[in-house]
Amino acid sequence: MAGVALVSYLLGSVSWAVIVGKVFLKDDVRKYGSGNAGMTNVLRTAGKGAAALVAVGDFSKGAISVLLGRLVFQYALGLDPIYGAYLGGYFAVLGHIFPLYFHFKGGKGVLTSAGAAVLIDPISVALTAVVFAAVTFTSKIVSLGSIVMALCYPVITYFVSRALGRDPVTVTICAVIFAAIIVFMHRSNIGRLLRGEENRFGKKKEKVQ
Ligand code: G3P
Repeated sequence: MAGVALVSYLLGSVSWAVIVGKVFLKDDVRKYGSGNAGMTNVLRTAGKGAAALVAVGDFSKGAISVLLGRLVFQYALGLDPIYGAYLGGYFAVLGHIFPLYFHFKGGKGVLTSAGAAVLIDPISVALTAVVFAAVTFTSKIVSLGSIVMALCYPVITYFVSRALGRDPVTVTICAVIFAAIIVFMHRSNIGRLLRGEENRFGKKKEKVQ
């Protein structure tokens, strides 16, 4: 069990935004834009190609950790694999936010959570992604899309579980944990949104104040 947590944390600590940023920007992406080590900040500072690489990397590490947890719980420990899946997913997100290899200053966990959640509950994640796309492309503010998506995710999870005839309680509680982490990590964005100062698409390479 501790092995799943450790490996997932180490995998989550691979901050693709920092690595890809070093290649494309020849600098640390955390010195630019929002200062976040995430796909959105790479998009605004290093472009679409770099952002796509970060998206694939951050999403994959969440998904791989869930797969690892599920397999270990099911075949090595003989436990319910859903708990292994959540354990792997949470520790991957923890590594992403506090990366061991990059001075514990990582991203906000959106893509890594999505990669984890899609293997646990793909229908809810697909519906939540529609919410994200609608909010983000109408507002042109990625953080707003992320926050609204996080808030909607547990609600969608609850109704999807019920519609599928499953017990909604455990998955909804677990979805609330993912959502709470993401909303908490966006607290600086929430401040900027309230002040009307949040970054919109199209801003480039500003140094962090
Ligand atoms: O996933 C992070 C995104 O929601 C906000 O990123 O760089 O605008 O703080 P950023």
